[in-house]
Amino acid sequence: MSAASQTSVNRRAFVQGAAAIAAGVASANWAGQAGLVLAQAPAPLVELPKLPYAYDALEPHIDAKTMMIHHTKHHQAYIDRFAGVLKDHPDLAAKKPEDLLKNLAALPDAVRAIVQNHGGGHVNHTLFWNTMGPGKGGEPKGKLAEAIKSKFTSFANLKEAITTAAMTRFGSGWAWLALGKDGLEVLSTANQDTPLSLGKTPLVGIDVWEHAYYLNYQNRRADYVKAWWNVVDWDAVAKNFQAAS
Ligand SMILES: [Fe+2]
Repeated sequence: MSAASQTSVNRRAFVQGAAAIAAGVASANWAGQAGLVLAQAPAPLVELPKLPYAYDALEPHIDAKTMMIHHTKHHQAYIDRFAGVLKDHPDLAAKKPEDLLKNLAALPDAVRAIVQNHGGGHVNHTLFWNTMGPGKGGEPKGKLAEAIKSKFTSFANLKEAITTAAMTRFGSGWAWLALGKDGLEVLSTANQDTPLSLGKTPLVGIDVWEHAYYLNYQNRRADYVKAWWNVVDWDAVAKNFQAAS
């Protein structure tokens, strides 16, 4: 989880925390007088990561209203459902969400779908925010560029492969550049499924759920995908590649 994601506060947890603090303040005088040490409110199980840029920073490619609703409503909703499961399973809460997604078969039947859909939603969106930025786009450099050229011959071919994966994903899902045992590959997944569950590490992905583009692009997914290339942060993707290599 990025530093940005660790610094933000799950709103629900914040409200609960604030209530606990308020209650704590009310009882602090009594406790202080009695010489007792008060326990601190527990840390939230999952936090909504702060965006590393403003909601309007990706305009005109992705509009501010879409970004705000996508982040504060959709991503938050995935977190709320995921945290609801973790609350009742401290053994799962102790693990990284990515590690749960890497081995869905090991999860109890009762929680597997929620981890897959909502834990996946949280992890996928966190990657999505952190691999975009204002004034980005262009082409990757360094070892990632070399690996792309080696596997796809050219960056243009990679771009075409991801665009095709994004356009042919029926319904909701994602298109990815991932690193698997055979090197770089392009794939798409349905819903909030992640390449992590397929033994691959996602390096960058485009969200092709309608909630990611409908306000500005309506049914024109192709225009949204074309615009997304202008905000891809290849330096961030290169860091993901380096970490996964
Ligand atoms: Fe989304």
